[in-house]
Amino acid sequence: MGELVLNVNGKPYTVNAPTEESLLSVLRNHLNLTGTKYGCGEGQCGACTVLMDGAATRSCSIPAAAAAGAKITTIEGLEQNGKLTVVQQAFLDEGAFQCGYCTSGMIMSVTALLGNKHASNEEEILGAMNGNVCRCGTYPRILEAIKRVSGHATGGGAL
Ligand code: FES
Repeated sequence: MGELVLNVNGKPYTVNAPTEESLLSVLRNHLNLTGTKYGCGEGQCGACTVLMDGAATRSCSIPAAAAAGAKITTIEGLEQNGKLTVVQQAFLDEGAFQCGYCTSGMIMSVTALLGNKHASNEEEILGAMNGNVCRCGTYPRILEAIKRVSGHATGGGAL
């Protein structure tokens, strides 16, 4: 066990966790942020994706201790004052989910993709989203949601 300070969704949290405990486990089981999902547990499906200093990160595959000092954002941290981000709204507008298990990871990956620049074409979007799996096969609607929002991306915190 060790004491750890994590900056999650703009707030500092002190947690006591074994040094090898994953960031995903700490988020879900210590901080009750259950929007981030456990999928494969091997960093292959993307369900556990969060942002670490703006970069899409598989939270199942890194110890929470490795995230100390970083700015971590989970799906719960996107909406501000009741207003969804344009990425979240686009997923809603396109109905880009079925069971929804993959959705928070998808949204976090898209947020990372569009946070820094426009996704210029479909190939670039598909390449960036390659590690996010949707078991329900809603890929066409997910792609439409990403295309809908990529024209709105202006960088930084716009998403
Ligand atoms: Fe069910 Fe994607 S909506 S796994």
